[in-house]
Amino acid sequence: MNENSNKLWAGRASKSADSRVNDFNSSIRFDFRLVFEDIRGSIAHATMLGRQGIIPSDEAAALVDELEVIAGEVARGELLPPADAEDIHTFIEAELTSRLGDAGKRLHTARSRNDQVATDFKLWVREECLNLRAEFAGLVKALISIAEKNLDTVMPGYTHLQRAQPVTFGHYMLAYVQMFLRDCSRLTDTYERTDGCPLGSGALAGTTHPIDRELTASLLGFSAPCENSMDGVSDRDFALELLADLSIASVHMSRLAEEIILWSSTEFSFIELDDAFSTGSSIMPQKKNPDVAELVRGKTGRVFGDLMTLLTAMKGIPLAYNKDMQEDKEAVFDAVDTVRLGLSAFIPMCETMTVNAERMRSAAGKGFINATDCADYLAAKGVPFRDAYKAVGGIVKFCIENDKTLETMTLEEYRAVREEFDSDVYDAISLDRCVAGRSVYGGPAPAEAAKRLESAKLRLAEYAEVQA
Ligand code: ARG
Repeated sequence: MNENSNKLWAGRASKSADSRVNDFNSSIRFDFRLVFEDIRGSIAHATMLGRQGIIPSDEAAALVDELEVIAGEVARGELLPPADAEDIHTFIEAELTSRLGDAGKRLHTARSRNDQVATDFKLWVREECLNLRAEFAGLVKALISIAEKNLDTVMPGYTHLQRAQPVTFGHYMLAYVQMFLRDCSRLTDTYERTDGCPLGSGALAGTTHPIDRELTASLLGFSAPCENSMDGVSDRDFALELLADLSIASVHMSRLAEEIILWSSTEFSFIELDDAFSTGSSIMPQKKNPDVAELVRGKTGRVFGDLMTLLTAMKGIPLAYNKDMQEDKEAVFDAVDTVRLGLSAFIPMCETMTVNAERMRSAAGKGFINATDCADYLAAKGVPFRDAYKAVGGIVKFCIENDKTLETMTLEEYRAVREEFDSDVYDAISLDRCVAGRSVYGGPAPAEAAKRLESAKLRLAEYAEVQA
């Protein structure tokens, strides 16, 4: 016996591992977070071992009971791992052995930490897919309710951040609703694909014991065991998918955050953040800063980094398990925590912001945002669109030089450019007409946007219903 004798793998080495190796190898400080998944996995495994007669059934029952006791102690904060524990699997097994003796030592029959950790982590990721989806559904709900109140709130739409064509604030919010609904749908896909129970894959090559993988899979809520034992222990696609989902969702949050930062500036003044969701400056008394939105934007890089961490860890490792894979957990935990924390402040920040409809409207009234409509007016009168476009370009130039707008051009001035212009041009270029006229499917016309809003509500309800 040597100093490694308290290690699960004691026996092979003739010399104890250097304490610095132990420190470096240990994952308990972060994988303790998988404690309940680890216990669930062990309960399923012990149950199966007992039913298959691989271990005595009374010992299996004792193991299940004691695992439940341990879960209770952990939940109440009564049981914590010692600082020198190697990982969550070692800790729970050592705890069982100290309480039950040989029964504890039999638990690991026909199992490896490789299939154990893959199972624990899959269980954790599956649950978080549904939790996060519900949290994003909360954001969708908040944005839908802002949209509902602002279907008539005309504002400028931009391309290249230059005023382009008029839209409504409701329509604008519904664009984000679509993005976040896709995020919910991606999390659903990841949840569904995070199936196939790794337990029973063993270290990599299954086991010679007569285990029942269907039973453990179903006890843990998977639809089936995974098909290949080597894939079972070396697959981390599910973690990568969750990180990719969260990275894309973070892009969406960051873009909305960026808009909110712009809109709350004095230059735009389209919205005002609630005092409870903004901060002041330590030196400039007039400041009201959009810190929440900025931090949401800023933390996006962490989530991308987490995805990159795991992609890089996985890209060059041969089958099956390699210790590199221990790096999967911190990356995923960090991304989940970062997105969750961001959402928890971002949603109420959105809910409490006030919309300055007059400012939006007056901004939409400037910058010749109705120039396309003016060209469309001519096109509807039979002028080829390209000619109409040129004519209106000339009108805009004339307006700029003479300090006019399309609304203040006289009919004579219009007619001097094209004789097709008539007095109905003023109605055609009015802001409300420009918006209402865009009643094409998916367009900003209030009546059309209201229909799309209803279908967004239906999709949202779908996500609220599908709960594990
Ligand atoms: N702490 C390890 C991890 O997170 C558990 C699996 C250890 N397996 C092994 N063969 N060393 O990946």
